[in-house]
Amino acid sequence: MFSDRVLNIELSGIRKIFDMAQGEVINLGLGEPDFQPPPEAMDAIREAVEKGYNKYGPSKGFPQLREALAQKFEKYADITAENVLVTVGATEGMLAAMLSLINPGDEVLYPNPGFVLYKPHTIIAGGKPVNYPLLQENEFVPTQEDLQDRITKKTKAIIVNYPNNPTGGVLNDENIKMIIDLAEDNDLIIISDEVYFNITYNGEPRTFLGKYDKLIFLNSFSKEFAMTGWRLGYIIAPKEYVEQIGKIHYYTVACPQSPIEYAALTALDKSGYYSKMMVEKFKRRRDLIYELLSKMDGVKPNLPKGAFYIFPKIELDANPVDIVKGVVKNGVLCTPGEAFGDMGKEHIRFSYAASEEDIKKGMEIFDSVLDKYR
Ligand SMILES: Cc1ncc(COP(=O)(O)O)c(C=O)c1O
Repeated sequence: MFSDRVLNIELSGIRKIFDMAQGEVINLGLGEPDFQPPPEAMDAIREAVEKGYNKYGPSKGFPQLREALAQKFEKYADITAENVLVTVGATEGMLAAMLSLINPGDEVLYPNPGFVLYKPHTIIAGGKPVNYPLLQENEFVPTQEDLQDRITKKTKAIIVNYPNNPTGGVLNDENIKMIIDLAEDNDLIIISDEVYFNITYNGEPRTFLGKYDKLIFLNSFSKEFAMTGWRLGYIIAPKEYVEQIGKIHYYTVACPQSPIEYAALTALDKSGYYSKMMVEKFKRRRDLIYELLSKMDGVKPNLPKGAFYIFPKIELDANPVDIVKGVVKNGVLCTPGEAFGDMGKEHIRFSYAASEEDIKKGMEIFDSVLDKYR
């Protein structure tokens, strides 16, 4: 009765573990900032509704918002509003991009461990997902060989995600050049998921934007302005891509949510300070969680350079899934690395988008659960 397409994808296992949690929990499992959106954006949404922005808007997004986004990124690339498509989160942008590019049998390279969308979206689009490994010893950046070995005549696109979820890895200029050279040599489209673009701890973000012609740059208001539930994202790509992806987008969602677009425009205009404030706090929390994990026997943390996740390797004779179950039973949510692909199976992901107090308590509980396995 059901399509092969839907039967070939599974819901992520993360939920099952979260459902074991009872009562008050310390949440180090969330993939979202623990802040509310900037106050002026919340005011703007009320104003938008009262002013009548409750109707369908232009399918590709409000022209003023597309223009403001083009301006925000014009220092990286030669773009105008026509290169911007406003989407219902990066999630919809990713699926619309895949449905517009992938033919049955086309292969798509995606990271393992990696964010949960990439493999199912490839399958839904009829493509063949081919994963490439991200290893802690390589700072969660793929090697040229690992990518080259997986490229065939059928490879159509490569998905990259930096700053990275679940590892906190970032790219340097050399890494970006290596990936672009490979893409150029093999005529690949680069789909760069940069929803953590502004969350970096070592200066300016390193981006693919403006460095490659066949690039789809995905970004979102979700993390930058703590608006995950408002569901607004965007694509920046060559105009002809925006036209084609825009067709799928139109037939899927008609248009983005008008009052949210209004508020997003306000956030772009007035809330730069807010995302800077969040990044400063994330940085302190990153230092704290890294320090606490570094002191634990049997745990080897990486120092995250972006996003708000840490992905330590567990070097004990125990399955991290069992450890996570024990931690969750004791009231701390976290995610087994396996939820992001089999190459993550020796790891646990902690989100440090939580208060310093929660991070300290959570790490104490984690450490005491590990005692059982030491
Ligand atoms: C790497 C990555 N890409 C995309 C998304 C989805 O973003 P959005 O809320 O804009 O759909 C997330 C959300 O956690 C993410 O971590």
